[in-house]
Amino acid sequence: MKVEVFLSKGITKINVNDYKPLMKMNFNGKKADPKFIKMREEKINIDETSEGIILSKDLGVKEHVIGLGEKAFGTERRRTRTVMYNTDSFGYGYGTDPLYVSIPFFISVRDGLPSGLLVNNASSIVFDIGVEDYGKIKIEIPENGSEFYIIDGKTIEEIVEKLSFLTGKPFKIPGWALGHMISRYSYFPSEKIIKVVDEYRKFLPVEAVFLDVDYMDRYKNFTWSESFGKPEKLLKEMHKRNVKVITIVDPSIPVNQKYGPFMRGLGNYCDDENGNIYIDSMWPGRCAFPDFLNQKARAWWSDEIKRWIKKYRIDGIWLDMNEPTRLVDEKGVPLDPDAIHTKDDGTRVKHSLIHNAYPLFEAKATYDAGVKFILSRSGFIGIQRYAAIWSGDSVSSWEDMRLQIPLLTGLSISGVPYVGCDIGGFSGHSDAELIARYYQMAAFFPIMRNHKIKGGNDQEIYVLPDKFRGMIQRAVRMRYAFMPYLKELAKEAHGKGHPMIRPLCYEFQGDENTYMIDDEYMVGKDVLYAPIVEKGRTSRDVYLPKGKWYDPWKKESMEGGKWITSDNEMPLFIRSLKGKERILEALSEIRLDSNS
Ligand code: NOJ
Repeated sequence: MKVEVFLSKGITKINVNDYKPLMKMNFNGKKADPKFIKMREEKINIDETSEGIILSKDLGVKEHVIGLGEKAFGTERRRTRTVMYNTDSFGYGYGTDPLYVSIPFFISVRDGLPSGLLVNNASSIVFDIGVEDYGKIKIEIPENGSEFYIIDGKTIEEIVEKLSFLTGKPFKIPGWALGHMISRYSYFPSEKIIKVVDEYRKFLPVEAVFLDVDYMDRYKNFTWSESFGKPEKLLKEMHKRNVKVITIVDPSIPVNQKYGPFMRGLGNYCDDENGNIYIDSMWPGRCAFPDFLNQKARAWWSDEIKRWIKKYRIDGIWLDMNEPTRLVDEKGVPLDPDAIHTKDDGTRVKHSLIHNAYPLFEAKATYDAGVKFILSRSGFIGIQRYAAIWSGDSVSSWEDMRLQIPLLTGLSISGVPYVGCDIGGFSGHSDAELIARYYQMAAFFPIMRNHKIKGGNDQEIYVLPDKFRGMIQRAVRMRYAFMPYLKELAKEAHGKGHPMIRPLCYEFQGDENTYMIDDEYMVGKDVLYAPIVEKGRTSRDVYLPKGKWYDPWKKESMEGGKWITSDNEMPLFIRSLKGKERILEALSEIRLDSNS
């Protein structure tokens, strides 16, 4: 086994067996001694087996492990064994693994000292954090080589910042995408959409509406169904109201000689083992899949997207089913592991080895077409350069609503700052209280979008009883009061890769209490939010870490380092009041339920 080590600015790169990673990281290091293969003072072992490479290190009894991207666990990832393999996880719940996004990166914190580890392989890596072997972290890489990075820093933030330096800065999110957005599988036809938006706007601002698959002619990308109505008129009406329009696009391209995009894309699809176009089943029927790993295919896709957004003045693209997914017995499963890609350098590679990077290159090709806002379901290291992520097909339940906090803050501290979830939950029944609390829980999530499955109950504010309408209005007004702050955070995310929402431990890494608190989150540095996430409750316990806190509803200051009980409708605490005068003034105009 050949092991090479390179050092630069607190980052150690390790290459095993001359591995040539698919993605080049932003790193230029000097050759160094293998003695540097350590996280803090703990040695990392590298073993070669017939199955691949295994990295391992000791797991301390009180060591915390956080990160690992989008995972359906608490913030603390100890005692989890997870695999990195992007998967359509319809109806997932706590413990379902894997989900849609793979970020093979974690931060370990021991005695308040953090250290990060990033594995730059796009195959199905397993992270075993003290499950198989109680006292060890084990990373199983199913390839005979690997590249990985150890990232040192004094704070968790410093490590996330270095991760973003390595993998690329988050794109610049437009201000409107931080506002309230609406979606439904599927609002139809176009006149109904105008009515929905107008009804919504009686109660809430609407910055954008998402069009789900039914706008298309039989699920064919870049087409409109005749019965949907004239797209030009819809776009005109929406833009008149200052509402953006975002259309869904799936990677599956129906094999049909009369379908322009398929014909123009010939030569740019994944192959099967015999060198023919790889064909599999998806909603439009028999489909080919663009080979986004290839520059020529990306250029073709960019052209298709460019033509589409330009012709209809589309404002954003929603990338779905891009794990990528095919249908087997109507169920979404990953593409055939044996499908073949042709990389930019002409070498051919099996899908299973690059699976996780597929949505990254799809997002890149879409972004390169000049799309200003992309919402993607799937992703990989670096996805933040091109797209925001939402957490896919959740279930409408209190438990799954609570899960969204550690799931999305975990993704945020793995380098992906623009994240959100289907407000109300995607499948299953959401009653009015759940929808209202869902809005409140997600009030500070960078992406705020209501979305629901076909056939599911309505979640629009205008169909709800007035009590719950009021709760949603207050949640959205609270968010908008913080809009200047959220925009500052988006700027910070774009500049330094800092997450916009954070688990408590990100800000208070030395406070042992914070690692297992999954129902509170930080919004930037200064705001702690503890939404009410249990049915029938009107108050809750809140842990306030050490420091001075201000309750803007009660207009009281208090000392942290303790648990308090808050009976505010949306328990909110601010650390530094500097520069927040405007926010406080806007908040003072909101009459909370308990205050009215
Ligand atoms: C799956 C997506 O996760 C969901 O949000 C969407 O509504 C459906 N596909 C239909 O396009």
